[in-house]
Amino acid sequence: MSRHQDRVAIVTGSAAGIGRATVEKFLAEGARGVVAVDVNRDALAWAAGNDRIATLAGDLTDPAVNAEMVQLAVSRFGGLDAVALNAGIVVQGTIQRGSLEDYDRTMDINVRAVALGIRAALPELEKRPGGAIVVTGSVSGLFGDSGLWAYNASKAAVVNLVRSVALDIGHLGIRINAVCPGPVNTAMTANVAGKPMEGAMKARIPLQRFAEPSEIANVIAFLASTEASFVTGAELPVDGGVTCGTGQWATTGGRRSGHL
Ligand SMILES: NC(=O)c1ccc[n+]([C@@H]2O[C@H](COP(=O)([O-])OP(=O)(O)OC[C@H]3O[C@@H](n4cnc5c(N)ncnc54)[C@H](O)[C@@H]3O)[C@@H](O)[C@H]2O)c1
Repeated sequence: MSRHQDRVAIVTGSAAGIGRATVEKFLAEGARGVVAVDVNRDALAWAAGNDRIATLAGDLTDPAVNAEMVQLAVSRFGGLDAVALNAGIVVQGTIQRGSLEDYDRTMDINVRAVALGIRAALPELEKRPGGAIVVTGSVSGLFGDSGLWAYNASKAAVVNLVRSVALDIGHLGIRINAVCPGPVNTAMTANVAGKPMEGAMKARIPLQRFAEPSEIANVIAFLASTEASFVTGAELPVDGGVTCGTGQWATTGGRRSGHL
């Protein structure tokens, strides 16, 4: 019996990257169906033709889109067991130069849309045992990064949102946790690929590399499954060890590859 056998899941931000890998993981683990949601309609095309995937194109900052994804899980697959709230954006710029419009948009997508997703999903999750929500936070929600103030603020907010929601819903038998990835090979890190910054970042990661999306999806699928039945309100770094250091020096492996 696979961990998600006959279960129904929603995955947001599933056009590519971690979200797509998470849809594929739920299906590989036996899910009856997955609702794949993303604002990028064209990029959802990868899921076309699979009758175990229902796609929904829409902006998750809209409460109606959140309601629709839950309705789709019920109408296509008969209910809802697990929700991976993974959609997110990153914008760069120092506190002096970054725009407030970027800040507002980042908070809207990375925090408010997650709250909307949780509120939309809870009534259906309550109807079946073993309901679980997993939010994609970030190591950038646990500590700061230079030039990422809006992202840092949003991911810290969503990690603490997860803790407080865990307190509100535990008695319903529904769990909620956050995965906190370090750098992952997706569109979000494409701007550093092949540049000196990539080597400098890897030098600070004990495992000396970025994650593949499937390595984050594996942990999301675990936290969303009943194997994690006593885990709630947790933030789990999936970061190759980057948050175990103070950040003052490169790791031993990093120094051996020439970084200070
Ligand atoms: N890649 C990394 O290094 C990394 C590290 C830590 C955390 N994360 C987090 O992982 C999550 C997934 O990111 P990814 O790395 O797979 O990058 P990605 O850009 O491939 O995925 C993000 C997806 O979210 C979608 N999205 C953005 N705004 C949306 C909206 N308003 N409504 C619906 N969909 C929307 C995008 O279209 C995109 O497909 C994000 O929350 C991100 O912050 C990524």
